[in-house]
Amino acid sequence: MLVTSALDLIGKTPLITLSRAYSGPGRIVAKAEFLQPGGSVKDRAAKAILLAAREDCRLRPGMPVVEMTSGNMGAGLAVVCATLNHPLVVTMSAGNSPARAKMLEGLGAEVVLVAQVDGSPGQVTGRDVEAAAEAARAIADERDGFYVDQFHAAEGITAHETTTGPEILEQLGRPVDGWVAAVGTGCTFMGVAKALKAANSATICAVVEPYGCRPLAGEPVAKARHILQGIGYGAIPPHWDPTLMDLSLVVSDDEAEKWRRKLAIEEGLYVGYSAAANVCAAANLLQSGRLEADAVVATVLCDTGLKY
Ligand SMILES: Cc1ncc(COP(=O)(O)O)c(C=O)c1O
Repeated sequence: MLVTSALDLIGKTPLITLSRAYSGPGRIVAKAEFLQPGGSVKDRAAKAILLAAREDCRLRPGMPVVEMTSGNMGAGLAVVCATLNHPLVVTMSAGNSPARAKMLEGLGAEVVLVAQVDGSPGQVTGRDVEAAAEAARAIADERDGFYVDQFHAAEGITAHETTTGPEILEQLGRPVDGWVAAVGTGCTFMGVAKALKAANSATICAVVEPYGCRPLAGEPVAKARHILQGIGYGAIPPHWDPTLMDLSLVVSDDEAEKWRRKLAIEEGLYVGYSAAANVCAAANLLQSGRLEADAVVATVLCDTGLKY
């Protein structure tokens, strides 16, 4: 495959059957999103939001791009900004892993670390994220930059509805029985759910929420801190569409640790915590008896374990 820029490396990820770490009933298939140039699922939203903003001139040539990130959106934006020649400033909670800041700086971004409000290193809460977002908004104002605003940008959802979802259907060659994904902005979950439900309205679409932090399940948040960086901020995302969610599956920190190791050792897939939580939840859904014994559940391997 000959491509002309890193932009062309975004999307079209392989779909892998996880038959070593999970042996049934049913089958788990997962999109290898960690293979994208920014190392995560967020590359798709980054590309879609910036290309749309350039198209309608909200983002003019050379204009700075500013965003709050847990690290992955920042890396996706850094890849796209490098190819399109925009300076990038990202604000990030100091609780996110230092590996992320290192990658962002390596890609040419200016990284502004924001002190945590109520989280701790490795455990980033919704209030920590809000503090980082406030800093990003202030910088965008000061520097006359384009504020990406991933939690409100509709292109993030469309990116997954028009690429990730159709790719899963095409790669599988049949409709999907279940779809499982943890929720940060919710763009991945909602966009793919739309595409899969359009192909098969019976597809069960399940979100993954950390133990004690399950607003989508309708529970009050008892434990805002968990190790699943990038997801589970203890609030319902602003553009959330509840009609796409059939159920919420819970995963504890210990289960995520266990599945992260399983995926590495049994499948040769060194991925992050949300990816591990997704696979754990997919296995639990298949074992719950809610689906047929030959059901296929799709999920995403959100990012590489090298970011932690
Ligand atoms: C590691 C990781 N997993 C999952 C997600 C969730 O993706 P989305 O924002 O599309 O819900 C993110 C988002 O930043 C992430 O960083």
